[in-house]
Amino acid sequence: MERMEVTETFAGIALPGHLHTQESLGFAAAFTFRPTDVLIATYPKSGTTWMQEILTLLFSLGDARPAKTIPNWERAPWLEQIYCRGALRDTETPRLLTTHLPAHVLAPALQRSKAKVIYVARNPKDVAVSFYHFHHLAKFLPDPSSFDAFLTQFLEGTVHYGSWFDHVKGWLGQRHLLDILYVTYEELHQDLRGTAQRLSTFLGCPLAPGTLAALEQHCSFSAMRDNAMANYSLIPAEIMDHSQGRFMRKGVVGDWRSHFSPEQNALFNRRYQEEMGDVELPSRWPM
Ligand code: A3P
Repeated sequence: MERMEVTETFAGIALPGHLHTQESLGFAAAFTFRPTDVLIATYPKSGTTWMQEILTLLFSLGDARPAKTIPNWERAPWLEQIYCRGALRDTETPRLLTTHLPAHVLAPALQRSKAKVIYVARNPKDVAVSFYHFHHLAKFLPDPSSFDAFLTQFLEGTVHYGSWFDHVKGWLGQRHLLDILYVTYEELHQDLRGTAQRLSTFLGCPLAPGTLAALEQHCSFSAMRDNAMANYSLIPAEIMDHSQGRFMRKGVVGDWRSHFSPEQNALFNRRYQEEMGDVELPSRWPM
């Protein structure tokens, strides 16, 4: 199947052109957030879809119907994507939004508001592996060729969506400027219940009896893999070639160990140290 080669460049970052235009990106940068808005911010492959599902269940007080009947991109639209304006519903409070944009693009608009931000981070080695596999099915991303070549581009920050290091450092830099909670993919794995409780406290969203049990059930990897409203199987094959793999691929921690050679690991560690060595990291950080 042919690749869709259209790329849009914004703030020095390459983005898939079938989802982004200068107009849609400008719309995001100038967005007027409401105090009740909740924005999920992530670098791709860090647990975005999982967080969308968790917040859907929290806000529905454990009722699985929205998660089972409305596609995730309508429940929590990506602010920067072309369909966002039309997907925003005026009746919904709070509005759930998603972004992969770097902090410096959205920070001015967010700082003018009281909107809440949830930043989800994942061990970048697992992000790189997940992103590599995703390039095989996502026809709107460049052909990844070999894992080694992809890893080099990932470490250089020349992949679509830009540098992982810049993304996390940018959003970590907002910790004193925004109402922001940092959550990691790894802690969702380790303690979904405890993390959901932390989210409910941060959001001021009470936990109804049964919410946690419903959330655990519907947000499990197997339930989400089988939920057409979360697993991207509704996306046409010319955009996501489902014969090349599943969006819900493995959903594990540490898959990088079966992909990285000792040399690649040493290179990655060196680069990580250069970029992140001086950064003050939140507790429960994945690396
Ligand atoms: P893998 O490719 O490692 O399996 P995003 O939504 O940010 O694009 O992230 C996608 C990654 O999150 C994929 O990782 C996917 O399998 C994983 N994921 C999605 N839902 C999950 C869940 N309920 N439990 C564990 N991992 C999940």
